[in-house]
Amino acid sequence: MRVLLTGGSGMVGRALLRLAPRVAPGLDLLAPSRAELPLTQREAVTDWITAHRVEAVIHAAAKVGGIQANLDDPTGFLAENLRLNDALIMGAFRAGVSRLVNIGSSCIYPRDWRQPLVEEDVLAGPLEPSNEGYALAKITAARLCAAISGQHGFAYRTLIPCNLFGAQDHFGQDSAHLVAAAITKILRAKADGADHVTIWGGGRARREFLAVDHLVRFVLMALNRLQTLPLLLNVGADRDYSVDEYYRMIADLAGWRGRFIHDRSRPEGMQAKLMSSARARDLGHAPPADIRPDLRIAIRAARMAL
Ligand SMILES: NC(=O)c1ccc[n+]([C@@H]2O[C@H](COP(=O)([O-])OP(=O)(O)OC[C@H]3O[C@@H](n4cnc5c(N)ncnc54)[C@H](OP(=O)(O)O)[C@@H]3O)[C@@H](O)[C@H]2O)c1
Repeated sequence: MRVLLTGGSGMVGRALLRLAPRVAPGLDLLAPSRAELPLTQREAVTDWITAHRVEAVIHAAAKVGGIQANLDDPTGFLAENLRLNDALIMGAFRAGVSRLVNIGSSCIYPRDWRQPLVEEDVLAGPLEPSNEGYALAKITAARLCAAISGQHGFAYRTLIPCNLFGAQDHFGQDSAHLVAAAITKILRAKADGADHVTIWGGGRARREFLAVDHLVRFVLMALNRLQTLPLLLNVGADRDYSVDEYYRMIADLAGWRGRFIHDRSRPEGMQAKLMSSARARDLGHAPPADIRPDLRIAIRAARMAL
């Protein structure tokens, strides 16, 4: 099957390109760069898909960032992602591609909602303000996929991953999420002989993290039977930890024994957003019971990258 992969240079995209030859050998993943295919132009997307005889799409491109990046540029996160999602999804639809996996995000859930979050909770309440633009663009994309599926019988499905981390994470970059940021800070503290690391916020907010390879295995498995998947599907770890617990686990695995200081003037986002991945489990998703082996792999990769 010939598949257009968007976001091939990102963390999810690179994991797909790395694992596909082993997990789904029949798949021919085409991952054009921005220069080769401008994803924000609908006609260009339709023409490219037609010319390359693409049979399915995995949409893993997005303007992605942490809390501060979202707070600094709400316009960019909303406008660029709206444009990108519209051009890609409608471009694929117009080219007649009947199978599409849209990678969503757990930020589409209402803030301070019941835990664990189930797929029906999307749009049940107000969003977390710190990344509202990003979330609205994700919700619009999910609804567009649902509309195309319902109206035209196509299999356009949205997977909702929890927070992700991995060996090819954004270590040392402003766009890093909690786990990559914590690994970076702790490894640097160890290298510099520093006795403390600063954690943004009070440390009690809870986050669900999954190593990206587990998401990618599910995506590759699901691609052949998208019609059997619901329109929205949580793909998470089915357990969360507090921010402080992530820092402590990483410090322990990295062999650093300093202190943690909390900077409560910094934003920390939602207090909790644990999803239920029960439906994905029924469909073959198998998140690990212990996050530590995957954290160890990410720490090893960060040591090489930093
Ligand atoms: N990372 C997480 O914790 C997480 C959690 C839940 C969901 N997700 C979702 O998973 C997907 C992939 O995330 P990721 O972590 O792989 O992000 P990432 O590492 O930041 O990669 C983003 C990818 O999107 C591409 N991209 C961004 N804006 C683009 C544009 N205007 N035109 C063309 N390409 C563009 C980037 O290309 P360049 O290299 O050219 O910039 C890159 O390949 C996203 O939809 C994200 O929302 C991620």
